[in-house]
Amino acid sequence: MIDDLLQRPLKDLRISVTDRCNFRCIYCMPKEIFGADYPFLPKQELLNFEEIAKLAHIFAALGVTKIRLTGGEPLLRTDLPLLLDKLTSIQGIKDIALTTNGVLLPKYAASLQAAGLKRVSVSLDSLSDERFGHINGRGVGVEPVLQGIEAASRAGLKVKINMVVQKGANDQDIVPMAKYFKDAGHTIRFIEYMDVGNTNGWNLDKVVTKQEIIDRIDRHVMPLEAVPGQYFGEVASRYRYKGTEQEVGIISAVSDAFCGTCTRARISASGSLYTCLFATEGTDLRELLRSGLSDDVLAGKIASVWNNRDNQYSAKRGRDTNEASGKQKIEMSYIGG
Ligand code: GTP
Ligand code: 5AD
Ligand code: SF4
Ligand code: SF4
Repeated sequence: MIDDLLQRPLKDLRISVTDRCNFRCIYCMPKEIFGADYPFLPKQELLNFEEIAKLAHIFAALGVTKIRLTGGEPLLRTDLPLLLDKLTSIQGIKDIALTTNGVLLPKYAASLQAAGLKRVSVSLDSLSDERFGHINGRGVGVEPVLQGIEAASRAGLKVKINMVVQKGANDQDIVPMAKYFKDAGHTIRFIEYMDVGNTNGWNLDKVVTKQEIIDRIDRHVMPLEAVPGQYFGEVASRYRYKGTEQEVGIISAVSDAFCGTCTRARISASGSLYTCLFATEGTDLRELLRSGLSDDVLAGKIASVWNNRDNQYSAKRGRDTNEASGKQKIEMSYIGG
């Protein structure tokens, strides 16, 4: 186990397997910027599955117990189940999850489950085709995502739903989404809109706070009660409908930041290590991997990056000590949230 400068252990590894996506969400990959001529990474600049598995082994030996595969859209990566096969056999890894927009789940859910995946988080921001089509930037309706959710459930995967709430864009969907997924029996997590990347035009007026979200659900769906967290460093605050086991979560990275217990490292699709979602600089692990260093030397370099980590961007946001001020932040589509 290794700690950072604020005594936070390294526990979770989030691995982006591609920088491409079949959506162009307005808050993540706005189509005006990520257009037809956008220079996505060529294949040789992506980590290959052997390299990812090697890093996962090293991170597991340093204390990581949980891996999340992200993108872009991870299901666009060819043969992803082969990567899962490699990851599920790593000693020390207790939990592997995948974050997806869901559209390709009907095609891949069964083979992902067969490769050892247990759960997925599906992003869905509205039940209105019009609003969802606008948010995803591609005019895709709600039905393909609901079919993906259904396919994942049928394949035996546990499903959580992630909804990014943006005032004026989809906050009218908080109550319908809560009702729908309460009835469907899936946990939905409402995510406060964040100032990730450099392109999404974020400002505080677009944030609906955790308290407002809870109040609306409490009033218009059913009363909620808090549920104690399950593990150190949990991102979502958990609630359940009173008298039931059905949960909802709120991810309050703006109004109630959780940097104090942040145990997450992120590897971008090109193999750079980031110690914060809002990082401005990474450490190029791909270069180190390809230069033929031994696992022990690589482990030492990763440990030293973590030991020197002091990120707490969300906790400091709004104070005059903005960690990223004046610098380019990593884009969300490179490190997958
Ligand atoms: P579980 O393992 O199911 O508890 O999921 P998780 O809590 O790891 O959540 P998930 O990976 O689905 O993350 C949901 C969203 O929370 C992400 O898409 C981000 O928007 C946000 N998020 C996750 N980790 C962090 C973090 O370290 N910092 C900030 N600011 N936001 C985060
Ligand atoms: N604020 C909050 N969450 C975001 N996500 C992407 N961009 C943002 C943002 N600006 C979430 C998506 C998805 C995951 C990949 O990250 O909804 O659940
Ligand atoms: Fe793609 Fe997810 Fe980003 Fe939307 S939020 S553009 S689905 S990676
Ligand atoms: Fe962790 Fe950075 Fe998110 Fe804070 S802002 S919780 S340090 S990733």
